Amino acid sequence: MIIAIDGPAASGKGTLAKRLAAHYSYHHLDTGVIYRAVAHALISRGADLEDAAAAVSAARGLDPATFDNPALKSHQVGTAASVVSAIPEVRAVLVGFQRQFASQPPGAVLDGRDIGTVICPDAEVKIFVVADPKIRAHRRTLEARARGEAADEATILADILARDERDRNRAASPLKAAEDAYLLDNSHLDIEGGVRAAIDIIEAVRAGRQKV
Ligand code: DC
Repeated sequence: MIIAIDGPAASGKGTLAKRLAAHYSYHHLDTGVIYRAVAHALISRGADLEDAAAAVSAARGLDPATFDNPALKSHQVGTAASVVSAIPEVRAVLVGFQRQFASQPPGAVLDGRDIGTVICPDAEVKIFVVADPKIRAHRRTLEARARGEAADEATILADILARDERDRNRAASPLKAAEDAYLLDNSHLDIEGGVRAAIDIIEAVRAGRQKV
């Protein structure tokens, strides 16, 4: 069973995916971390984020052991990841790793931008998470401050809007809901409410499949 959770930056899809994976005892991959790791490698080497050859080489050399590096969580690395992820050759290098991860038994939850559309188009359940950009910016600001980063909410909102724009309008695997995705708007839901809504969707899909 594959569960695809897609959505824009700071929509809460990562926390949701992690909670769903724990609930069903499935593997979880936050695919944003992959692009963040590539961006971080480029920043560390002083390379240009739009240097496709350097980015492809960083993507090929990716080490999953570095995915829990706290430096990857920063807002700056997230914005850089959005730039790097628009390079089609970088995305192409990373498809195999993501599909292999998704195929692990007994199941996997992957969250990102193109899981339901490109990486796992046959996922049994696809959920597209959305939330009001102002609410996303507010949540991200609180998270950044909790990590001890100085965070200005207006700047974060502007960054989120710019990131949405870039992620939606890039030619390679743009951010968009798959036609068969369920929309989950968590603007007015807390984490528990979002998890419950997603489990309701998953259980309804499973029940429907059993009836067929
Ligand atoms: O979800 P996130 O904030 O960690 O993602 C960082 C950037 O990585 C995001 O702005 C676009 C890119 N990304 C992507 O292009 N495809 C994915 N499946 C996941 C992330």
